[in-house]
Amino acid sequence: MSRLLMCPPDYFGIEYEINPWMRVSNQSDGDRARTQWQALTRVLEDEAGAKLEFMEPVPGLPDLVFTANASVLHEGKAVPSRFRHPERQREERHFIDWFTKKGYEVIKLDAELYFEGAGDVLGFPEFWFGGYRQRTDIRAYDKLSTIFSKIILPVELVDQRFYHLDTCLCPLSGGELLYFPPAFDSYAQTVIAAHVEQSKRFAVPSPEAERFACNAVCVDRHVVLPTGCPETMAWLNQHGYIPHPVDLDEFLKAGGSAKCLTLALD
Ligand code: ARG
Repeated sequence: MSRLLMCPPDYFGIEYEINPWMRVSNQSDGDRARTQWQALTRVLEDEAGAKLEFMEPVPGLPDLVFTANASVLHEGKAVPSRFRHPERQREERHFIDWFTKKGYEVIKLDAELYFEGAGDVLGFPEFWFGGYRQRTDIRAYDKLSTIFSKIILPVELVDQRFYHLDTCLCPLSGGELLYFPPAFDSYAQTVIAAHVEQSKRFAVPSPEAERFACNAVCVDRHVVLPTGCPETMAWLNQHGYIPHPVDLDEFLKAGGSAKCLTLALD
């Protein structure tokens, strides 16, 4: 059973520009955002079989909906994020309060180490990948590796449109991987190739990567992904997964999609 944390989009909007997708002049529509977010919760619960938990939205924190950035959680420990942008640093205490209330052991990194949670840390039971340069500092991964007793392979993100690891890489439950190779420097591409065999890797085509095909939520054999990604859906079908497309365009205006809107709690 997969448990996911989400936050309703009551105060979601494009109020600042901290990634190339965000333009204050391209405002999100509140009603459409709510409808899309509710459709996502329905698909996750009813079709993928996930169990959802919710945190309270907070006025003035439009990106709090992107709970993937709250923390990395593992075996009862939570390492909360330290956001690079001051606009999002204001979210930190709300996430910390939630983890504390839920009984997680909250372990903070040094304040000068930027780290953006599960948005930048993804992987398999045997090892994790850690995206760095755009948001998270590479030095955070030494500490995280010790805290969680995990191998973390740092991978450099080189395209500003794909500023978090979860915008360009998605590990699947059977050991396969969706990713967008040009988002990584050549060394990171080599590292990924050395750890996931070719037959298990799907290089998402550019138009679908730009629709955030990699920002998908995998629950067992179910994969919830944004609409407009037919080649990714075909590959998933051929590999025994059940893709569930959801229209999340309002959130793409903020540089996010399905995966960013959830945080895996176990
Ligand atoms: N506007 C948010 C930001 O730039 C979007 C975060 C999306 N989250 C993610 N895990 N990719 O920080």
